[in-house]
Amino acid sequence: MMSILLTGGAGYIGSHIAVELLTLGKEVVIFDNLSNSSEKVLDRIKEITGKSPKFYKGDLRDREDLDHVFKNENIESVIHLAGLKAVGESVRKPIEYYDNNIGGTTILLEVMRDNGVKKIIFSSSATVYGDNTNVPLKESYEVGKPSNPYGWSKWFIEQILQDLYVSDPSWHIVIFRYFNPVGAHPSGLIGEDPKGIPNNLTPYITQVAIGKLEKLGIFGDDYDTKDGTGVRDYIHIVDLAKGHIAGLSKLEEEGINVYNLGTGKGSSVLEVKDAYEKAVGNKIPYEIKERRPGDLAEAYCDASKAKEELGWEAKFDIDQAAVDAWNWQSINPDGY
Ligand code: NAD
Ligand code: UD1
Repeated sequence: MMSILLTGGAGYIGSHIAVELLTLGKEVVIFDNLSNSSEKVLDRIKEITGKSPKFYKGDLRDREDLDHVFKNENIESVIHLAGLKAVGESVRKPIEYYDNNIGGTTILLEVMRDNGVKKIIFSSSATVYGDNTNVPLKESYEVGKPSNPYGWSKWFIEQILQDLYVSDPSWHIVIFRYFNPVGAHPSGLIGEDPKGIPNNLTPYITQVAIGKLEKLGIFGDDYDTKDGTGVRDYIHIVDLAKGHIAGLSKLEEEGINVYNLGTGKGSSVLEVKDAYEKAVGNKIPYEIKERRPGDLAEAYCDASKAKEELGWEAKFDIDQAAVDAWNWQSINPDGY
């Protein structure tokens, strides 16, 4: 039977995609260097689905390791999630980010081509819209200027995939621009496990709720938004994972297609905080702080292209994400 290769499949998003694929009876191979994840996730995936993904520990930039996987397994398509993703760190370590994200991707594409595998889904980000603030964001818009090396790495990889397709139209390429993935699997067995103090809003909130952090800092309440705080498009991780299942059918066609994966709705920081307070059953202490450099007032998507062309749309709201995130955090206070 043919398998789907998940690069970075031990991570937050990849582990949820693995669960959806295994549940559908697909064979899954995970390739991950575990730089930002734990091998324990593999047992948890098995606990949820009753099946084990195959696992190869390796780095994308190690051509031989990667080639070994393609020689050993019957790979039909690749979901390419592996990469570094911390915005602030990317500003301090641009070389590491470009090497890992772009270098890792070009080696993957080369190994795929050499092994005759030409179907790939790539994890891009809403960050490629950069300073384009014309919400709701549509795939047809010009991408903007990202404010950091992480964002540029996603932008360049999208361009590399476009150029690859021009050079060889027998590739099948789907680019997903994720908005803000939140929540966890409802089992509470897999979820987001950031190292150190979280940079993102919702893991910060759950760590305040569990008593690891004292209070939430809200980065600005004077934006031109419904309540002055930043507005984003928070998408439940299970919805996001199911988007990839829908993407696999598109991958049967030759071509290159770009889709937003989001809910199409914006929630403010205060609304997110309220949803988590409801889920936790306690107040989340907070204080208003300065705006965070590089932040936009509003970023949410027009989600209609994925609905029309993939038949996919998000089903869960921020309240459900809060319940599931809190379930994960309370069962696993220290992550994996
Ligand atoms: P994650 O860090 O949990 O998962 C990424 C995985 O890739 C990790 O398990 C890490 O160990 C692995 N990895 C990194 N570099 C590698 C390399 N060179 N070789 C092999 N494995 C490597 O992150 P995530 O949140 O699951 O994100 C997955 C993808 O989605 C990333 O490409 C990320 O940029 C993108 N994305 C994430 C978000 C988000 O908010 N989480 C938003 C938009 C896009
Ligand atoms: C950030 C990244 C984006 C990346 C995404 C997911 C930036 C500019 N963008 O998006 O490239 O794809 O994470 O990893 O960093 N907030 C607070 N207090 C906090 C944390 C966040 O008020 O402690 C606010 C932010 O100002 C923002 C919202 O919460 O309005 C969401 O922030 P965050 O979770 O970091 O995601 P983004 O900034 O949207």
